[in-house]
Amino acid sequence: MAVNTALRDYLLTRRSVGLGFLNEPGPSQAELETILTIATRVPDHGKITPWRLVVYAGEARALVGERLAAIAQKRFPTYDDASLDVERKRFLPAPLTIGVISRPQEHPKVPELEQVLSAGNVAFNLIHAAYAHGYAASWITRWFAFDQEAASMLGAKEGEQFVGFVHIGTPSVTPEERPRPDLTSVVSYYEG
Ligand SMILES: Cc1cc2nc3c(=O)[nH]c(=O)nc-3n(C[C@H](O)[C@H](O)[C@H](O)COP(=O)(O)O)c2cc1C
Repeated sequence: MAVNTALRDYLLTRRSVGLGFLNEPGPSQAELETILTIATRVPDHGKITPWRLVVYAGEARALVGERLAAIAQKRFPTYDDASLDVERKRFLPAPLTIGVISRPQEHPKVPELEQVLSAGNVAFNLIHAAYAHGYAASWITRWFAFDQEAASMLGAKEGEQFVGFVHIGTPSVTPEERPRPDLTSVVSYYEG
């Protein structure tokens, strides 16, 4: 196969862009559907689709923010107005956020770990799909991915777990490179 230099260079340089720097415009409905199609094209042992996605767009972003603030007020009694306002803006200003839910099931050949990893692949493929369309993205969990009431409010059902929320938008900054692990510290060649 020919070398795909554009893909290689993208993979060598991609950086996440923080939620506060993801602005309008976001993907059109047609772009969103392609992004979702790419995202769900991931390794999936047993073809059991152990994940699903929830899209937060338009007015839903402020609505979930209000609901997060209400749950946060109960969960963190010391929160002041400024802290609650942070919760209200958790899904803003990014024009689009996609929650990735892991829904592992009992399977004779596919351990839960493999199913959760497949969900992680969906999240990362979402990021690649967003960048392929000229947008930037960030994979975030925060407290509400792990809080049962908040996760339920955001769309998770019994036995399901958010592996993250991928925020997508047009970047207002170009992020600097961050340190990466030295290959010698993470790669070894098996010698028996
Ligand atoms: C599962 C997962 C959850 C994350 N949750 C958060 C989070 O809640 N808050 C945060 O600031 N970064 C979080 N991150 C890290 C961001 O994605 C981070 O900005 C990113 O790793 C930056 O590296 P990159 O530019 O190489 O993508 C999370 C990463 C992963 C893989």
